[in-house]
Amino acid sequence: MYIFKAGVIGAGTMGGEIAQVITYSGMPVVMKDIDQKMLDTGMDKIRSIYQRRVDKAKMSASDMQSKLDLVTATLTYDGFEDVDIVIEAVPEVMSVKKRVLQELEGVCPEATIFASNTSALSISEMAAATKKPHKIVGMHFFNPAHVMKLVEIIPGLDTSQETVDDVVMFTESLRKLPVVVQECPGFLVNRLLMPYLNEATMCLEEGAASASEIDEAMVKWGWPMGPFTLMDMLGLDVCVHVGDYLTEEYGERMESALLLPKLVERGRLGEKSAAGFYGYGDQSDEPTLALIDEIKVQKGIADSKFSPERLIYPLINEATLCVQEHIASVNDIDMAMIAGAGMTYSGERMGPLAVADMIGLEEVLEGLKALAATYGPRFRPSRLLKLKARAGHLGKKAGKGFYEYTQ
Ligand code: 3HC
Repeated sequence: MYIFKAGVIGAGTMGGEIAQVITYSGMPVVMKDIDQKMLDTGMDKIRSIYQRRVDKAKMSASDMQSKLDLVTATLTYDGFEDVDIVIEAVPEVMSVKKRVLQELEGVCPEATIFASNTSALSISEMAAATKKPHKIVGMHFFNPAHVMKLVEIIPGLDTSQETVDDVVMFTESLRKLPVVVQECPGFLVNRLLMPYLNEATMCLEEGAASASEIDEAMVKWGWPMGPFTLMDMLGLDVCVHVGDYLTEEYGERMESALLLPKLVERGRLGEKSAAGFYGYGDQSDEPTLALIDEIKVQKGIADSKFSPERLIYPLINEATLCVQEHIASVNDIDMAMIAGAGMTYSGERMGPLAVADMIGLEEVLEGLKALAATYGPRFRPSRLLKLKARAGHLGKKAGKGFYEYTQ
C-alpha cells in the first residue's frame, strides 16, 4: 500500500516533530489535538525547525512556506477520512491510547494503518482494543525526532507482515532508518538505555560523583551527550514513566534509582521546566544537590564508586539479553543504538555488542560479576554472555564474539 497522506494525533513537541518529518518528505499531514495550546506548541515546533533551516541557508523562505502549507492543524477529526496512516503521540496512558484508536476506527478508512509512538507500552494490548489488530503497529521515534535517524518498528502479536512492510517503506520515505523490533517492554533502545541512565542516577544519589563529572566522563567515553543532559532533554517525567514500567515488567534487573521520582515530585522535569538534574536560566541545581544529600544518608552506601563501566556494562548485558530473546539481530541492535542514541566508541560509530567484542567478553563478564557482588543482582550477567565466554567467543582478539573477525 502506498502512503499519500498521514495523520498525527497529539501535537506536543513530539507530535510536532513527527509532523515536521512527514512534511519534510513532501507528504501532507493533518495534526490533531484536543487542546488549542498544544496545537499551537506543535505548529511552533514545526515552524521553528524549518526556520532554523532557513536561517542556516539550507532552505528558502518560500520552500519553508510550501512545507508549512502541507500541515493542517485541527481540534476535530476533519481531514482524517482519507489518511493512509495515523501516528498517535498522545500521553503514555494505555486507556487514552485505546480510546484514541477506537475513535480513529470510526472516522478513518478500513485500510488505514494506525501506528503508536509509545516509548514502551504494549502494541498487542492496544491492538486488542480495536477491530483491526493486523493494522496496528509501533512506530517509535527518538528525541529530537527531526534529527535522530532511527525509527523502531514494532509489530504486535496480530500485526500483518503487509502492515510491517508498508511502515518500513513509509519510514524509509521519511529518510529515516527503520529497525524492526520484536515486542518487549521498552522495545530495544529504551530497554538498553534505561539501565544505563538509571545506573548514572544511582552513582549520583550515592555520592560517587557529581552530575557534571559523570556527564563529562560519558561524553569522553563516546556519547554525544552525558546521561543527565540527556534525561533533562527527554523530560524526567518521561524517564520515570518508562523506568517504572520496565521495573514492573523486568523486576530487580531494572531496580529504579530514588532521585528521579523525587525530582519530578518537585516539578523538576528537565529542560522543559527549566529545572531537572541541572538548573537552566535563573534556576539553580541546589534543590537537586539537597535531595542527593538526603538520599545518600538514606541509602548509606559509603563506598559507592563511579566508573564508565558501571554504566556501560548493564547496557551491554541488556543487549545480550535482547540477542538471547531474538528481539532483534546483532547488527540491528548495534545499528539502533548508533542511529537512535548516537553511540560511539574509540571515535567510531559502534553499538554495544561491537563494543563488547572490542573490550573482550570475558572482561565484560568479570566486570558484571564484580559489580553484582558490590551493588546487587541488577548486574547479573546474561546466560548468553556466560555461554560465549565459556566457548571462547571472546570478541575481536579471539576472532569471534558477537561478530566474526578475520585476523
Ligand atoms: N533539545 C531539542 N533539540 C536539540 C537539543 C535539545 N536539547 N540539542 C540539540 N538539538 C537539536 C538542535 O536544535 C539541532 O536542530 P536543527 O538541526 O534543527 O538546528 C540539532 O539537534 C542538532 O544540534 P547541534 O547542531 O547542536 O548538534 P549536536 O552535535 O549538539 O547534537 C544531538 C545534538 C543530535 C541532540 C546529539 O547530542 C545527540 O545525538 N544526542 C543523543 C540524543 C539521544 O540519545 N536521543 C534518544 C533518546 S531516547 C528517546 O528519545 C526515546 C524516548 O522514547 C524516551
